[in-house]
Amino acid sequence: MRVAIIGSGPAGFYAAEALLKRADAVVDVDMFDRLPTPYGLVRGGVAPDHQKIKTVIRVFATTAARPTFRFLGNVRLGSDVTVEELRRHYHQIVYATGNEADRRLGIPGEGIARCTPATVFVGWYNGHPDYRHAQIDLSVRRVAVIGNGNVAVDAARILLRTPAELEQTDIAAHALETLRNSQVREVFILGRRGPEQAAFSPAELKELGKMEAADPVVAPGELARCAESTGNAEKDKNLAILRAFAARPPRAHAKKLHLRFLVSPTEIIADAAGNVTGLALEKNRIETRPDGSVAARGTGEIEIIEAGMVLPAIGYAAERIDGVPYDEKARVIANEDGRVVDPARRAAIANEYVVGWARSGPQGLIGEHKRASAHVVGHMIADGAGLAARALPERDAIVALLRERGVQPVSFNDWKQLDDVEVVRGARRGAPRDKIVDVEAMLALLGRE
Ligand SMILES: Cc1cc2nc3c(=O)[nH]c(=O)nc-3n(C[C@H](O)[C@H](O)[C@H](O)COP(=O)(O)OP(=O)(O)OC[C@H]3O[C@@H](n4cnc5c(N)ncnc54)[C@H](O)[C@@H]3O)c2cc1C
Ligand SMILES: NC(=O)c1ccc[n+]([C@@H]2O[C@H](COP(=O)([O-])OP(=O)(O)OC[C@H]3O[C@@H](n4cnc5c(N)ncnc54)[C@H](OP(=O)(O)O)[C@@H]3O)[C@@H](O)[C@H]2O)c1
Repeated sequence: MRVAIIGSGPAGFYAAEALLKRADAVVDVDMFDRLPTPYGLVRGGVAPDHQKIKTVIRVFATTAARPTFRFLGNVRLGSDVTVEELRRHYHQIVYATGNEADRRLGIPGEGIARCTPATVFVGWYNGHPDYRHAQIDLSVRRVAVIGNGNVAVDAARILLRTPAELEQTDIAAHALETLRNSQVREVFILGRRGPEQAAFSPAELKELGKMEAADPVVAPGELARCAESTGNAEKDKNLAILRAFAARPPRAHAKKLHLRFLVSPTEIIADAAGNVTGLALEKNRIETRPDGSVAARGTGEIEIIEAGMVLPAIGYAAERIDGVPYDEKARVIANEDGRVVDPARRAAIANEYVVGWARSGPQGLIGEHKRASAHVVGHMIADGAGLAARALPERDAIVALLRERGVQPVSFNDWKQLDDVEVVRGARRGAPRDKIVDVEAMLALLGRE
């Protein structure tokens, strides 16, 4: 069988691995990515000061080295190649395109300068080509990060780390330069629900207490109404960490990271020039619904905090791709258990599948995709009996088609060349790599137009 996988993040690579390891099927895999570089959010999302997590790319590189695997980077589904063309050239298609859009707050002021969504800030410091020109002005002293998830924690940590803590990471050189000159002294992480509902992982939260020149600050009142135990081990660990933060006096000259709960932004406030000056917050109370879930309800009490930059980190959503069915409500590719469906009729679209965040939304860690992608591959094998009998164009015909229209696919060997260049450049500052952030520059290095 010949399979196209669109997207080279963890979900795509784990699907490729599961397909290529099958003893009961002979599969050729072509993996496409819109970028010339593989690995999705492992390269463009995972924080630069979390290098250990990125070692998972060794597993993916082993999959890429299999003889029937081929990488076709720098090819975007929806513009460089269409779904119809993929249907002609492959027996099955797997969408592994992740969640590349932001969820919106839907409040006045969102969208003005210095209200920077997490995708932009994270992409900027990680050297994602889409965000290399993002205007990140750190001449401000206070930043408000909205959301109580691990992305909010990553963003706050990167804002507060010292240049010495960052320069030996793979942070983008432009971001390191801006952060060297940063005037940010205080960061607020603002949660709409309480400490018991925060989505931080305990390890991530704990790390906030180990920054070289910044200290977490939790007002004891924030924890006053928390139960001794929530019945959830992870949440209890979070509470214990927050209590330890609350008991710890911050160092006098340290930058401050304030963790605030039960507040929802209602307006981003700007001056006449359009620059952010603050944030209106409505205080919330917790309400337990009949089904047991816990919601934040506004009390009508408003507080204004000063901040020169607002960074919403409230979750991601799948981008719509031309020709690929989209579930408007869940904001993922329309599917049932990984089989792509027509959203109106819920009827399966034969031979098309979806894995990873594009299937399930923006929840979950890298390792969780291994089992989830293998599960969908199970469906592919079950549905695929007899499919290989359908004659396809030659395997290289897709590359010829792309070249004819001026698209320059980047192979895995090409990527290895770029990888080598980045590693050599990085060694100059004692970093694992110094990323090339410009697609044109990558293609020029490879001798392409
Ligand atoms: C900021 C951030 C930090 C994170 N840190 C951690 C962490 O430390 N540890 C952890 O375990 N998890 C972490 N996660 C979660 C983890 O990154 C995700 O679970 C995982 O990357 C999702 O995998 P995916 O393959 O579905 O999507 P992605 O990793 O997003 O991969 C999608 C790929 O599809 C490509 N693509 C998109 N559209 C197209 C198109 N039209 N044509 C061709 N290609 C396309 C993209 O370029 C990308 O390479 C983090 C997430 C974020 C957002
Ligand atoms: N180091 C790591 O391991 C790491 C790092 C980064 C990301 N990740 C993973 O990647 C996934 C995505 O992380 P994430 O932080 O983007 O998402 P997340 O864990 O879902 O957190 C999103 C946060 O935004 C809040 N929120 C949503 N809408 C809001 C609104 N309108 N107003 C105010 N707050 C709002 C949510 O509050 P409610 O709970 O009230 O909805 C929640 O606190 C997670 O699974 C995460 O663990 C892992």
